[in-house]
Amino acid sequence: MNNINNQSLLGVLCEPGEQTLAVANPATGAVLGYIPVCSEAEITAAIARSHLAQGTWQRLPAKERAQLMQGWYELLMANQADLARLMTLEQGKPLAESMAEVAYGAAFIQWFAEEGKRALGTTIPAHTQDRRLVTIKQPVGVVAAITPWNFPIAMITRKAGPALAAGCSIIIKPANQTPLCAYAVVELARQAGIPDDVLQVVIHHSPEVVGDIFTHHPDIKKLSFTGSTKVGGHLLAQCAGTVKNTSMELGGNAPFIVFDDADIELAVQGALAAKFRNGGQTCVCANRFYIHDTIYDQFVPRFIAGVKALKVGNGLEPDVQIGPMIDAAAKERVIAGVRQAQKQGAVIAAGGGDLAGCFVEPTVLVDVHQTMDFIQNELFGPVAPILRFNNDELLIAQANDTIYGLAAFFYSRDINRIWTVAEALDYGMVGINEGIISTELAPFGGVKQSGFGREGGCEGLDEYLETKYLCFGGIGRG
Ligand code: SIN
Repeated sequence: MNNINNQSLLGVLCEPGEQTLAVANPATGAVLGYIPVCSEAEITAAIARSHLAQGTWQRLPAKERAQLMQGWYELLMANQADLARLMTLEQGKPLAESMAEVAYGAAFIQWFAEEGKRALGTTIPAHTQDRRLVTIKQPVGVVAAITPWNFPIAMITRKAGPALAAGCSIIIKPANQTPLCAYAVVELARQAGIPDDVLQVVIHHSPEVVGDIFTHHPDIKKLSFTGSTKVGGHLLAQCAGTVKNTSMELGGNAPFIVFDDADIELAVQGALAAKFRNGGQTCVCANRFYIHDTIYDQFVPRFIAGVKALKVGNGLEPDVQIGPMIDAAAKERVIAGVRQAQKQGAVIAAGGGDLAGCFVEPTVLVDVHQTMDFIQNELFGPVAPILRFNNDELLIAQANDTIYGLAAFFYSRDINRIWTVAEALDYGMVGINEGIISTELAPFGGVKQSGFGREGGCEGLDEYLETKYLCFGGIGRG
């Protein structure tokens, strides 16, 4: 493959055949290469190896696990340019965004390497003289992770980092659109000395088959999933049979609100970042814009000018800011959403043109109303619908009027309003005068049908730990 210096990252590639999967470049449609797919028996065997490896990994002192993880972090960063190129080739995002994602993804490994040393228990003042009460933290056991194509490295490291740090072994099923990044980062883990069976990748032609095996297998103790609410609900139901520990990072429908006292220029820059990162294919992307009546005519023309200036194209070309949608079906869904909104009365104020291949022109829609289908559903594309408001209370009700509760954004300079709105928004994360909120340092996750569990921050480690209570009796009996 062109211009990947470290060929060891491509060790998974094979000749085409029946038991292989073709990986395509969404910008050109060209096949990048073929990788072998696992049989069901091979997936089950991988779980058995993971189960065996778990005990040894768990017994390793946290400090030794941290040293291995730090080595992995360093290799990820040393290979940042190659990994970013690979990501742009198979996922489509602009190279600058891929570079940023490799650093973002690697940061989870570094953060959790350190955080694993702080899996602290407690001592509890006892209720009788002869007892001592303590808690210890222990790994949940073998973890299965199902990760999406939109952040093909960071969504893996955000799960593998805390799992490994906690002392769990982990098996990852990446999206079938972006397996090369998954295999590449796991190859670097091997080179850093993380044992093969502690961190594995499996791929199958049918993601449902892997989901079935993961959710029903008694040796999988935890499932961590990032993807749609529909699939997450289905996996959750399947996990009920073996009562698995689960974390679900599901869909979003983020409101982006600009109040009349906002810094307009800051809000425009935040809106462009929050909407168009990864071409709008991000769970926390701004999905609907609520602009106060009195500043509507200041905000909207500036925002439209910013949208019109965005350069669309192959992410490997310099200055491109919007790459392709992940595949033709994804593009079709976005275009169909725009057409439906037009039928319901929305007007195109920018973009809306028909581009070749998997590309979608960044688009702004005005005359949009709360009841349109568009406003209720996650768009996952570079389309920005704009609504007006003039009443804070009604606005909060509209912003919360969704089954989702992942992220919300708002712009205001009034401290009283800032606290009131931040507390009233029914979301797991709120950006206040900021359009990009993701970092390994803070807990990422949603409420309502956006799921549960947190990734990143000290909360992220807890997802992979169980608390065990120890009660010591007979103290002082000599
Ligand atoms: C996501 O789309 O779920 C991840 C986005 C992020 O980590 O910022």
